[in-house]
Amino acid sequence: MPVLPEAMPRLLLLFWLATTTAAASAASGFQLSSNCPPSFKKTDEGSCELRSLYQFYGSVQNKGLGGTQTALPEHRDGFSPEQIDLGRYLFFDPALSGDGTVSCASCHHPDQGFSDGRARSVGIGGRELSRAAPSLWNVAFQKRLFWDARAQSLEEQAQGPLYAADEMGNTPPQLLATLGGNPVYVELFRQAYPQGELEEISLGQVYRALAAFQSSLISLNSRYDRYAHGYHAALTTKEIEGMNVFRSFVARCAECHTPPLFTNQQIAVIGAPEPEGLPLDVGAEKILNAPKLKGGFKVPSLRNIAQTAPYMHSGRFETLREAVGFYNQGRGHAVPEGVDMHLHWHIWDPNLTDYEMDRVVDFLRTLTDESLKPQIPGQVPSGLTPINHKNDAAIVTIETTNIGESS
Ligand code: HEC
Ligand code: HEC
Repeated sequence: MPVLPEAMPRLLLLFWLATTTAAASAASGFQLSSNCPPSFKKTDEGSCELRSLYQFYGSVQNKGLGGTQTALPEHRDGFSPEQIDLGRYLFFDPALSGDGTVSCASCHHPDQGFSDGRARSVGIGGRELSRAAPSLWNVAFQKRLFWDARAQSLEEQAQGPLYAADEMGNTPPQLLATLGGNPVYVELFRQAYPQGELEEISLGQVYRALAAFQSSLISLNSRYDRYAHGYHAALTTKEIEGMNVFRSFVARCAECHTPPLFTNQQIAVIGAPEPEGLPLDVGAEKILNAPKLKGGFKVPSLRNIAQTAPYMHSGRFETLREAVGFYNQGRGHAVPEGVDMHLHWHIWDPNLTDYEMDRVVDFLRTLTDESLKPQIPGQVPSGLTPINHKNDAAIVTIETTNIGESS
């Protein structure tokens, strides 16, 4: 490694690092995968299409809430394998942040259910955000993104963290300069977007590749799913008891957390508490300018929920048992005094017993499936440490299915 010139401005330094390491990277051969990730099929046009048993259930859709054999909502797919793989490098590369210290994976770590294990995420310069990082499993089924549903597509969503001063702190010109100044990225973008006449990397291509990678984060093969597909021995008696409580019109969980994604994708006001000392987060009220949605948040999917503590937009609950217990403590018990909140009608007083709540937790644990967890790249084109965080500088290599190893 050449000697670092002193007092080099940050941007230049990044650029310099990127270009000097690039020659080495090119020699070590970054090559995008031409295979679709597992559970995707490559079409004749060369794009990846999701294949899931749930696609056979279209005909019995709408046959009752909480039904096991219910069709999935539409999934965002149609990306090429190369775009998915390019997105994987971008997702793990801290070069996408303003100072090269934060990647998407800093807050959405594959080993933490694509969340970060924190009540509220920490961005560039160690700044704490006001909300928890949601899991990204099955995110390509979501019609609207963010807790308050303020983004309509994954492409729109990505611009939030990239340019937020307290998340990745980048700017569009700096992002383009970093990627365009790195010969490895220039080559990888050319592989991912071969028909583009454009000489230069565009922001649209960056957002699309990130969306492509996220579309491959599929979790639909949990023990619950095996049960849903007809293999009854996949769940224990206690787990089935929990499922029945979850689906019952007493607990009403499935009214909002509707299978198979365990969300109906609506915004609901449930009145979950903010952490001690933090002001009320009005959620969707602000975005949709609708006072009735004060404290309203998108119903989160409960897939891989056992991996993503702490819970709720505020990270207020440490355990699943606490989160389940919240629904049983009296309608509106945590709404601050004097605040007018229009709680959803399915939030009420179900009077579940401790036994029933414990079984619901047992059931929620059956929604875990990380079999398609993508591999964290051993190195990324910038030469920086993949993932990276002030608390997490280590490269973690996971011995699971390599993205692109099968199709
Ligand atoms: C500093 C931490 C941090 C970083 C870095 C970060 N995120 Fe997030 N992400 C969050 C938080 C917190 C939220 C929820 C914010 C909200 O709802 O207001 C979120 C929300 C999301 C969502 C919405 C999920 C849903 O179900 O609605 C997606 C998708 C996402 N991030 C993808 C990304 C991508 C792609 C990157 C990199 C370009 C990235 N994030 C970088 C913390 C982070
Ligand atoms: C009226 C719709 C509704 C009903 C009914 C409902 N939930 Fe929720 N659930 C939500 C919303 C909205 C959130 C996010 C609220 C927030 O962050 O403030 C949530 C959050 C959660 C979370 C935390 C998810 C995460 O990623 O942090 C869990 C666990 C959960 N619900 C389980 C349940 C269980 C178990 C039941 C039944 C006892 C239930 N829910 C009933 C709407 C509902």
